[in-house]
Amino acid sequence: MASQTEDSIATLLGETSVLVPAGRSAERIADLSWWLFGSATLIWFVVLGLSVYAAYVRPGAHDVARVRLMIVGGGAVLPTILLGGVLAYSLWLMPQVKPPIPEGAVEIEVEGLRWWWRVRYASEEGGATEVANELALPVGRPAVLRLTSPDVIHSFWVPALAGKTDMIPGRETIIVLEPTRTGVFRGACAEYCGTSHALMNFAVLVLEPDAYEGWLARQGAPAQEPEGPLEARGAAVFREYGCGACHAIRGTQANGVVGPDLTHVGSRRTLGAGALPNTPEDYVDWIARTHEVKPDANMPPFGMLPDDDLAALAAYLDGLT
Ligand code: CUA
Repeated sequence: MASQTEDSIATLLGETSVLVPAGRSAERIADLSWWLFGSATLIWFVVLGLSVYAAYVRPGAHDVARVRLMIVGGGAVLPTILLGGVLAYSLWLMPQVKPPIPEGAVEIEVEGLRWWWRVRYASEEGGATEVANELALPVGRPAVLRLTSPDVIHSFWVPALAGKTDMIPGRETIIVLEPTRTGVFRGACAEYCGTSHALMNFAVLVLEPDAYEGWLARQGAPAQEPEGPLEARGAAVFREYGCGACHAIRGTQANGVVGPDLTHVGSRRTLGAGALPNTPEDYVDWIARTHEVKPDANMPPFGMLPDDDLAALAAYLDGLT
């Protein structure tokens, strides 16, 4: 069961391969990886081949000059040329992996916290649209991500789009992402940051420009009203238990800033930064057994809620799409 859930979470979070790039900077990194892998393979075969030849093929029959040639040539000259070439290539690539900030880029602020991601899109009317553990980017257009952390060092990594960038308390680091194809790509924290470091994931949705604008408009809208009596009961449970002290749901009284914004939580692919899939049963699991799902998470478990209140709350949150 557990491994099935892990499989489905991995599918929901999306592609993760450095070697199947979907962004400009990741393409350069993949190129360099293949060159390094190729030259290392060549050096390994040449050195091993010469060693086998020297030891077994004609043992005792070598003259000193030939042995010296093999050692100097295979052991020093060849690796120097190949690795020197790769070094020159990587120095040439470096500015392309970390490009300067381009004009007309999408601007996004990302805060890494133990153990989730706060994402803010500046809106044209002023203010910002806040989402959590998921972000969307338009394909073919650069995005500038301003990265910060209020607690410990995290590292922002979307392997298919670019390399890692540390998020350091007290300063802002910047990464430029330029997606080259649409899809869903997994992001993760790449710096050990405590107990649930492994459960600090996010999904990057790379969309066509129109779909991206639609996504942004939907995320910026206030939460929809509860659809039926069960959802309305869930909204009342949310108020009664003071969930709004930590979580915001725009369009309601809930305006907490400690935890993730839940205005459109039902639209997200996972819960708890990739800890669970996102179905009504998963909300119940998350709310009642938070620390079994995600050890040391800031949110206290609400296992004391009666089952029907939990089910109503889950239906309400699931309906916030
Ligand atoms: Cu955040 Cu590891």
